Amino acid sequence: MTERIIIFDTTLRDGEQSPGAALSVPEKVEIARQLEKLNVDVIEAGFPVSSPAQFDAVRRIAGTVEIGVAALARAHEKDILAARDALKEAVKPRIHTFSSTSDYHILGKFGDARYGATLSEKRQTVICMSVEAVQLAKSFCDDVEFSAEDAGRTDDVYLAEVIAAAIEAGATTVNIPDTTGYTLPGEYRAKIEALRRRVPHIDRAVISVHCHNDLGLAVANSLAGVQGGARQIECTINGIGERAGNAALEEIVMALKVRGDRMPFHTGIVTREIYNTSRMVSGFTGMIVQPNKAVVGANAFAHESGIHQDGMLKSRETYEIMTPEEVGVTETRIVLGRHSGRHGLKARLLELGYTVNEEELNRLYSRFTDLADKKKEIFDDDLRVLMGDSVTRATEGLTLDFLQVHLGTHAIPTAVVRLRREERVWEESATGDGPVAAVFNAIERALDHSYPIESYQVRSVTSGRGALGEALLRIRVNGIAYNGRGVSTDVVEASARAFIMAINHVEQNQNITRPIDWAYTG
Ligand code: KIV
Ligand code: ZN
Repeated sequence: MTERIIIFDTTLRDGEQSPGAALSVPEKVEIARQLEKLNVDVIEAGFPVSSPAQFDAVRRIAGTVEIGVAALARAHEKDILAARDALKEAVKPRIHTFSSTSDYHILGKFGDARYGATLSEKRQTVICMSVEAVQLAKSFCDDVEFSAEDAGRTDDVYLAEVIAAAIEAGATTVNIPDTTGYTLPGEYRAKIEALRRRVPHIDRAVISVHCHNDLGLAVANSLAGVQGGARQIECTINGIGERAGNAALEEIVMALKVRGDRMPFHTGIVTREIYNTSRMVSGFTGMIVQPNKAVVGANAFAHESGIHQDGMLKSRETYEIMTPEEVGVTETRIVLGRHSGRHGLKARLLELGYTVNEEELNRLYSRFTDLADKKKEIFDDDLRVLMGDSVTRATEGLTLDFLQVHLGTHAIPTAVVRLRREERVWEESATGDGPVAAVFNAIERALDHSYPIESYQVRSVTSGRGALGEALLRIRVNGIAYNGRGVSTDVVEASARAFIMAINHVEQNQNITRPIDWAYTG
């Protein structure tokens, strides 16, 4: 018998804090549904007090899935009340409250004299605030998680005091974040072991690990934490998250599965849903998965060298420690063609993890037949991209109504665009060094605003002449990054759509996604 590890997925909260990865509410709900299929134990759906959009996302997810849904709250009454309200419809609600415990954070965030004159007084204030927060959360919800932010750099004796107080106040999970990704595996394991020795009644709560990847050690630290006694792991799909990201769910789950000989633990994850989930998150966030990424990268199961290929043909185990099928990577194959009907499309989308209602299916079917006319053979990845694009487009404010580009070897590239937002229409033309620049210039001219482009890439989604092109682009406004993604068989149109999507993200999210002050001054 092996012990069960709880998988707490924070893709929609910590993951969404990746630069530019802001997701719309329908995109989050779609990902939450897929996380439920993947069978994670808890989804951290957002930080309700931080904006109306965050509140709405948590509320909608809580009303959609039946697995655990957590909402983040600082150790503040108004945060906890917002979390409670957002979680009203959840079948298994969890309030996740946190305080900062390292001296760096305490001195940085609690500098004000009202928190105490000395470090030691400020530390006691943090304990009191944490206890009050846990008690308040507990009055609404049995399942309360407490996190000691920057526990990785917190002195072990003080950390034990805070965690003991949180458990005494009713916390059922105590999370030990390595917020800055500073610790080394042996050190992090020793921290968990020290807590188990020092904290009275530690067995009343589940110990959780939450590791950031600043030194590339998030997964190794999470596994070391489990070996030290933790039984919940907080992680994100594709390892996305603030700065270098969080521990990658797929790597943790497969490490536990493949190395059960050394780590006698198991999770409830349906591993064959890993690839679908990875692709969905990458599509919606516009964050490409690097080809050599473990478990879900395009090359994760590719065997290039002759020796490896020969070995694989003779016996798979020579170079493969897990099979692509185990994580849901199937051979690229033609799945549908122009004669496929709505029913076939819907069934395949369901297999790929997407749920569509009749209206969405109709919209998608017409895009599907357009594409099938152009490219004859439709692959799973084409469908994923079409589907992702269609969920995203459904939430667009500004849309591309018309695009015409003139170019040639000796011509000056010129673009004409017509944009629409509800009844309002803008039309403009502009030239540029190339067709894409001309389109961007025309869009900016139409809106009378310029948006600095920080990165821009175009790639083909599948192979062949008629392949769908995907443009990914990032703009930065007032220091905040916004991603955009566009898809079309015409890469210039895909680029225009990506630019418009990023502008929509600015308009939807500016001043509402992260106005929050992570200190306690509110
Ligand atoms: O990294 C961190 O400390 C966090 C907490 C808010 C749990 O994300
Ligand atoms: Zn974090």
